Amino acid sequence: MRHAVVMVLLTIFLTACGGNQSALNAQGISSTALKDLITVIVSVCGLIWLMVVGCLAWALLRRRSEPAEGQVVDHGLGKAVKLSVAGTTVIIIAFTAASFATTRRLDSASDADIKIVARAQQWWWQFTYQDKNGIWLFQTANELHIPVGQDVRVELEALDVIHSFWIPSLAGKLDMIPGRKNVLTFRADRAGIYRGQCAEFCGLQHSHMAFVVVAENAEEYKKWTIGQIAPASHPPGAEAKAGEAVFMSKPCAACHTIRGTNASGTSGPDLTHVGSRQTLAAGLLDVTRGTLAAWVADPQTIKPGNNMPLVPLTSDELRQVSAYLEGLK
Ligand code: CUA
Repeated sequence: MRHAVVMVLLTIFLTACGGNQSALNAQGISSTALKDLITVIVSVCGLIWLMVVGCLAWALLRRRSEPAEGQVVDHGLGKAVKLSVAGTTVIIIAFTAASFATTRRLDSASDADIKIVARAQQWWWQFTYQDKNGIWLFQTANELHIPVGQDVRVELEALDVIHSFWIPSLAGKLDMIPGRKNVLTFRADRAGIYRGQCAEFCGLQHSHMAFVVVAENAEEYKKWTIGQIAPASHPPGAEAKAGEAVFMSKPCAACHTIRGTNASGTSGPDLTHVGSRQTLAAGLLDVTRGTLAAWVADPQTIKPGNNMPLVPLTSDELRQVSAYLEGLK
């Protein structure tokens, strides 16, 4: 009985599943095609289940007179088996056709307006924006911006282990495999902020491997790209200035790139405009001066096992570095 109550409550709560990371909240051409397919399959299977349960109940409850001695009873089993086989065949063929048609819809957008290379690694996302000819424009981390209504082509790569690229509200998931390039094309039909998540277990911090997708109108998107293409500013104020000097003199610059400065490391995220991003550590923290300071001060407590080492800083240096990073808009 308790089990049944839990199931009913779960059903009620799950019905409310939605928000910015839900395949049921489809806001793009691919995710809508997938949602339509799964709705058809679940509806047909649900209907069949109801029919089977109904037949079972009818068979159990109906009253039958006892057969007379020696009378041969025809249960109609042969007919039922034939009907089941024919019905199952028709349904499997229909589902296969529907799946094929959906896959065609997913692959239809080939010549995309926006080209991005997404490289997954334990446990963050590197996004490289390219122009139409495949020329490098700029790099960002854990945050994608895309224009509404335009096709986006993402080349999926992985550096270390298998990851999986998934923005449930916008597209189906696709694996990212070391040494292999997979391509996913999708489109957002409505402006909004969506959440992407690694969908393949890839180690200790797999669940903390998320990213933000900002779908915005063409004008805002263009403004954002112009800002991202520009080299880093030198944030005003003595504290930020001192922070820049600390950053460049410590090992930070060996792992991170800040375009327009001497920092040109490539093993960590490009920080040229880190202050303009919404999240830090692949969706784990909101970007504020406080979280930047906390992350630099103790990355292994916040996200155990990640590749960011502890760089010993005095409290003054920590304040200065966080002021500098926050100012990199
Ligand atoms: Cu990357 Cu899970």
